[in-house]
Amino acid sequence: MKLWGGRFSSGKRDSDFERFSESFSVDRRLVLYDLQVNRAYVRALGAARVLSAREVGTLTRGLDAICQYVESRANWAQREAAEDIHTWVEGRLEREVGPVARKLRTGRSRNDLVATETRLYIKSEISNLKSAIATLLEALLLQACKNSPAILPGFTHLQPAQPILFAHYLLAYFEMLGRDIGRLDDCHARADELPMGAGALAGTPYRVDRARLAKELGFARVARNSLDVTSDRDFVCELLFACAMIMTHLSRLAEDLVIYSTPSFGFVELADAYATGSSLMPQKKNPDSLELIRGKAARVVGRLMSSLAMLKGLPMAYNRDLQEDKPALFDGIDTTRESLVIAARVVRTMRVHAERMQAATARGYLTATHVADELVRRGVPFATAHEQVGRLVRHLEERGATFAELGDREAREIIPAWGVRLRAIALSPESSVRRSNVLGGTAPAQVRRQLRAAERRLRALPRPVR
Ligand code: ARG
Repeated sequence: MKLWGGRFSSGKRDSDFERFSESFSVDRRLVLYDLQVNRAYVRALGAARVLSAREVGTLTRGLDAICQYVESRANWAQREAAEDIHTWVEGRLEREVGPVARKLRTGRSRNDLVATETRLYIKSEISNLKSAIATLLEALLLQACKNSPAILPGFTHLQPAQPILFAHYLLAYFEMLGRDIGRLDDCHARADELPMGAGALAGTPYRVDRARLAKELGFARVARNSLDVTSDRDFVCELLFACAMIMTHLSRLAEDLVIYSTPSFGFVELADAYATGSSLMPQKKNPDSLELIRGKAARVVGRLMSSLAMLKGLPMAYNRDLQEDKPALFDGIDTTRESLVIAARVVRTMRVHAERMQAATARGYLTATHVADELVRRGVPFATAHEQVGRLVRHLEERGATFAELGDREAREIIPAWGVRLRAIALSPESSVRRSNVLGGTAPAQVRRQLRAAERRLRALPRPVR
């Protein structure tokens, strides 16, 4: 069945091209949206007196029957073939209710139809993505609360820098993902307008009440320009950007945890369920879950790039190129949602080894800055203090020792003011973190506040998924 047979001579089709151009195998995912939009549109045609009340009733019953058929069979599409989902629904409707089905597409085009369905789809997927983010946020908070006293060696350049609370570290990812939610909300707000009634490009000549249609389909408003809305896929790119950003954040978290879970670091240990072994080396426990998340980030970035490239340079208005939006969109969203769910499970189930973090903090001289700051308090210029502590560290490094193994006399040769107090500071990462008592800093008092705020933010989000 074709929606456009009349203009063409029969028997001249190329089956390879037919396969090349079909989108049913991809857009059949939109079937329930297609039925939903069709049902609302049939009512709109009734209100515009294009269809009689009887015809509206028949078509609606037919569409409901298809809906039931599809919902009751997981593999409804298995033996079906059609150019696209819109063609399939129309053909099926004719089988259901007879020739009156041929009135279904009065005054509408697949161009405004597919744009409407895709917007409905992404609005619903945005709320799924938000739930998936909430799941990860919940896992981050859980670990932050469970390990609230743990001190992590903070890194810059992946070199030991200053001690930070492990909870503070986890909350950094909470912030990143919180911004991602904001981006999803922005995308939702812009995508929330109705294309139906735009026709193929110019606007339908039938008196379809678009405002009412928008309300029925749950759109905030009607699109102002029919040319724009039938060829606009900004919302696809925007959502894929939000997904690419989420995946970029996940890939950073994954990379951290890959590093932190190596035996050389040993800060965290993945649950067995999220690691795999080696077929050759019996001792191996590989963080494949995290590596796959990191790898899949590349795929979602690629999906964003292909959507931008698809739109670039398209002449006004609809072009068939736009059909390529869906494989990118579906895969980008699925990959992101699945990655979020797995990341949440990895985080929730990982074991945290505070004692390994503590040992690494001592080995890395992470309190050095605070020793220098104490000298400043005693009137030593910072540059001088910096130099003295730097020399002390070099001296310790040469003999493979930490601050704990430093003798007072030995220290005084480099830092004349060395004494009990400076020694205590050097040996206490706890006092180091307490000093960063600025809004947004890593001091326990600040982090407690951040945790409480995070809990409040989490409660305002859609329920996490498991
Ligand atoms: N399958 C197409 C798409 O996904 C919709 C059909 C529009 N086709 C057309 N020839 N106007 O974009």
